[in-house]
Amino acid sequence: MARILVTSALPYANGPIHLGHLVEYIQTDIWVRFQKLHGRRCIYVCADDTHGTAIMIRARQEGVREEDLIARMQQAHLADFSGFQIAFDNYGSTHSAENRAFCEEIWQALRHDDLVSEKEVEQLYDSAAGTFLADRFVRGTCPKCKAPDQYGDSCDKCGAHYDATDLIDPKSKHSGATPEIRKAKHLFVGIERLHAFLDQWTTSGALQTEISNYLKGHFLHEPLRDWDVSRPAPYFGFEIPDSPGNYWYVWFDAPIGYIASTKQWCDRHNEQLGDWWRSDETEVHHFIGKDITYFHTLFWPAMLKTAGYNLPKKVHIHGFLTVNGQKMAKSKGTFIKAAAYLEQLDPAYLRYYYASKLGGNVEDLDLNLDEFLTKVNSDIVGKFVNLASRTANFVRKSGLAKVYPDDGGLFAAAAHDGAAIAEAYEACDFAKAMRLIMTAADRANKFIDENAPWNLRGPEQAARQLDVCTIGLNLFRQLAVYLAPVLPKMAQDIGEFMNGALTHWSQSQQPLVGTPVDKFQHLMQRVDQKKIDAMVAASAEPDPATAPAAPAPSAGNVPTDGDEALKAEPLTAECTVDDLAKIDLRVCRIIAAEEVAEAKKLLKLTISLGGDTRRTVFAGIKGCYDPAKLVGKLYICVANLAPRKMKFGLSEGMMLAAGGEGDVHLLIPDEGSKPGQRIH
Ligand code: MSP
Ligand code: ZN
Repeated sequence: MARILVTSALPYANGPIHLGHLVEYIQTDIWVRFQKLHGRRCIYVCADDTHGTAIMIRARQEGVREEDLIARMQQAHLADFSGFQIAFDNYGSTHSAENRAFCEEIWQALRHDDLVSEKEVEQLYDSAAGTFLADRFVRGTCPKCKAPDQYGDSCDKCGAHYDATDLIDPKSKHSGATPEIRKAKHLFVGIERLHAFLDQWTTSGALQTEISNYLKGHFLHEPLRDWDVSRPAPYFGFEIPDSPGNYWYVWFDAPIGYIASTKQWCDRHNEQLGDWWRSDETEVHHFIGKDITYFHTLFWPAMLKTAGYNLPKKVHIHGFLTVNGQKMAKSKGTFIKAAAYLEQLDPAYLRYYYASKLGGNVEDLDLNLDEFLTKVNSDIVGKFVNLASRTANFVRKSGLAKVYPDDGGLFAAAAHDGAAIAEAYEACDFAKAMRLIMTAADRANKFIDENAPWNLRGPEQAARQLDVCTIGLNLFRQLAVYLAPVLPKMAQDIGEFMNGALTHWSQSQQPLVGTPVDKFQHLMQRVDQKKIDAMVAASAEPDPATAPAAPAPSAGNVPTDGDEALKAEPLTAECTVDDLAKIDLRVCRIIAAEEVAEAKKLLKLTISLGGDTRRTVFAGIKGCYDPAKLVGKLYICVANLAPRKMKFGLSEGMMLAAGGEGDVHLLIPDEGSKPGQRIH
């Protein structure tokens, strides 16, 4: 194959990279590096996925422009990726001129084939937040199996796909409000017309068997539903040129971002996009997680087919990461961000650990932190690096022997393993590749144990010592080539210390002789349990469902119900410093506000206390403030007031205000304060 184009899913710009994401980026990076090590023409492109309601709402909450928010996130993502030695050939953004152009082109192709139709749609609308609700931002009870707390598109429990409007008892994640149903015109792509093509493509070997079976059983056994690809304003995205006021749904423009990112690379390297996306000489490989299977295996190939682009040769789908056997959880410190990991630990550890767990299937994989420590220490430090640390310094003066000595067939055996190791890498069965490599390392260590170069002293044993160390270092270097896709930084260090860069797989087939060897430097520290503990501790956040442990308010101050919520109380009783310290006053940002229809004085507010912490507060300020104008502004609230059940819902705090009786003034913090900051 002349060219291989590889992608990872485009991470959402509304959150940081965490160890779950890294399963995919590390997996892809290893595969790409393996291809490059074989001298294949391979490029790896990715981008930030920047559009959609989530970004819009978050920008609003932070009071910044979407463009500034996504630029900042992109910098953070890139820093994380480079920290983990993930080497993209291009990293773009879906909010780019290139992407808009390809969206328009592909849209034209869909129009040309008459696949686009307009239909009136009922969608959930959060009037408190002033936005239609994306499926991920509404939760409710599954209409099929009645499992509670499911997303708006599909059910975790029974796997059913449905419309958000079918959810039972839906609630907006933005404001907690019960959304209303609003009608709007949406544009649809009728992919049923491509059903026969999809039947064929999904069973053509492009997908893992379990995935093609899943598609057959869940989607392809019946007529394919039209795909809703537009969203009405307000929406952060690209406006559809022939449908003003409507925007392409984020999942329409996101995969097109693969092409747009390739285009940027082509422009920088004087290459033709057509050679990479419209050529029989090019294989396109996507790496994705199982949660986004159907976008990549139904809609995306349908779009590519219609617009005349290459179809993916393969969509490599991986499972989800659990940590210590459970879903990552902030409250347990196992929702570990890339940056938090890098503050404590060497990225090489995680690259190796993931490689040792990834079998190229869709099964979930577990990061068990105890196993992580033992495995890395025993395999990489104990078996691999140990080969060099026990031999290198004996040949520092002499360099390697001029002729490769008789090693009893060890080098040849591991060279022979190269084919099986390469095959495993190619099939994404990195776990198997790592097992084969470690078995070879065991054989090499046995040789060094038996020949104990540290015991070969004096002039009469010098030649034997040189031979033993030449063999040991060659076996080490051979494995370093095999491990280079997983441990690129270490491979580079090894190349430097042995005076010959490791650049090609074929270097594993030929021993090195007569070359100088530098002083052995520590290639890797052992994993330190204390560092793991520190990382987990730094990642732990209190569970918002159970925290804070609020002190019980004294009975006299508790407003009774409903409209009385903010009634001013004359300050009479004396208050000690200790009393005061109990009250947790915080800066908060109002992210949604709506009038409580049935209450005279109440507004229902959703406030953000920084990060993901949200509270619902009923404030007696109706008539004093226009709810729409409150959204986005900073005020001060009591954050540790025990939640109170009121007529209209649970109030989880209190806004601070001056005045009363229709003359209420919310207190504002000075400029520069941030949501969540404590007031002292
Ligand atoms: N923006 C979409 C992808 C658009 S591709 C045209 C998206 N973004 S994401 O940030 O949520 O996820 C990016 C990738 O990371 C996805 O392939 C997803 O499956 C993967 N993972 C996110 N969390 C993960 C785990 N906990 N475990 C393993 N992979 C995970 O989806
Ligand atoms: Zn269900």
